Amino acid sequence: MKNAMMMTIAACAAMVVSASAADVKETWAKDCAKCHGADGKGDTKMGKKLDIKNFTDAKYQASLKDADMLKAIKEGVKDGEKVRMKAAEGLSEEEMKALVAYVRAFKK
Ligand code: HEC
Repeated sequence: MKNAMMMTIAACAAMVVSASAADVKETWAKDCAKCHGADGKGDTKMGKKLDIKNFTDAKYQASLKDADMLKAIKEGVKDGEKVRMKAAEGLSEEEMKALVAYVRAFKK
């Protein structure tokens, strides 16, 4: 009985610590993966259609600035009048920054 209590407490503590990392992963899966792919390679139907680049490519990563990535997430990506990527909705500045870091982590 005491053991079960301890385990519950430990599990809750772990959840608090990893909450934001889990959120980012969830946001990526929900809002980004359909184009960029769960693995960031952009190897999806939408990714091919939109000619999305591969986030695991170190050379492409090097060409991206954090500020531009943040701007893309915040304001979306446009090609003239055509929207290529919609601005992320309902995300806080912190969450968007966490997404930039998440995208960075795809680099091989
Ligand atoms: C409708 C498909 C689509 C969705 C959904 C989408 N993107 Fe994109 N994203 C694109 C396209 C298209 C580009 C521009 C082409 C490229 O550079 O690969 C792009 C570019 C980017 C870039 C690079 C910007 C730069 O500076 O060149 C980042 C970072 C990015 N997306 C992050 C995200 C994140 C984070 C999400 C989820 C919140 C997301 N994208 C959702 C289509 C999408």
